[in-house]
Amino acid sequence: MDDWDAAAATFDDEPDHGLRDPAVRRAWADLLLPLLPARPARIADLGCGTGSLSVLLAQAGHRVHAIDASPRMIEVARAKAGDLAIDVELADAADPPLDQGSVDVVLVRHLLWVFPDPEAVVARWVSSLKPGGRLVLVEGHWSTGAGIPVGVCRDLVARCLDDVETTLLPDPTLWGKEISDERYLVTGRVTGRVTGRVTGRVTGRVTGRL
Ligand SMILES: C[S@@+](CC[C@H](N)C(=O)[O-])C[C@H]1O[C@@H](n2cnc3c(N)ncnc32)[C@H](O)[C@@H]1O
Repeated sequence: MDDWDAAAATFDDEPDHGLRDPAVRRAWADLLLPLLPARPARIADLGCGTGSLSVLLAQAGHRVHAIDASPRMIEVARAKAGDLAIDVELADAADPPLDQGSVDVVLVRHLLWVFPDPEAVVARWVSSLKPGGRLVLVEGHWSTGAGIPVGVCRDLVARCLDDVETTLLPDPTLWGKEISDERYLVTGRVTGRVTGRVTGRVTGRVTGRL
């Protein structure tokens, strides 16, 4: 976690990380809030970083469990959470401290790509969703070469969930700049019994940088 710890102090300088620009913040609110059930939904923000999305969702009336494995990121997220309905926890998002069938939404932005077995991790996340619950993934295949191509991500989510939808996110307002690489949203829903494999304890390992 050393790299993420080192990044924490300046992480929010990126427009899409800190959401300090009102236009960028509104763009993320417009993208994410319509995907959520009626408030207050129970939402797990896994790999929450400095907690910007957790704060956005809590300010919209939801209850958020924000989890990250970097102590420095967690420190910043705790400070930003203040009195909002956000539980901030230091933990491994590959095997998060979430009971089976306990949350309405698992939200993950820019984390899945770090895991060596993303399918197993997605299956673990899906196991924590209530019936009708939703996985909301924001990922990318960045110009650095890191990341997951959209088709691969969609297919692995579709192995565990129904109603899978993919949206490309080229709008520069989301990122605070023009982009030329592949950034996207994948959502899926639990419509019946949770399927997919959970292969016991899954552990996280960072394999690249965004
Ligand atoms: C690219 S940042 C994204 C942060 C946040 N989701 C956002 O979009 O602003 C990736 C985050 O995942 C965290 N992370 C990496 N591996 C993790 C793991 N195994 N468990 C929990 N958090 C992890 C890092 O500490 C970092 O905060």
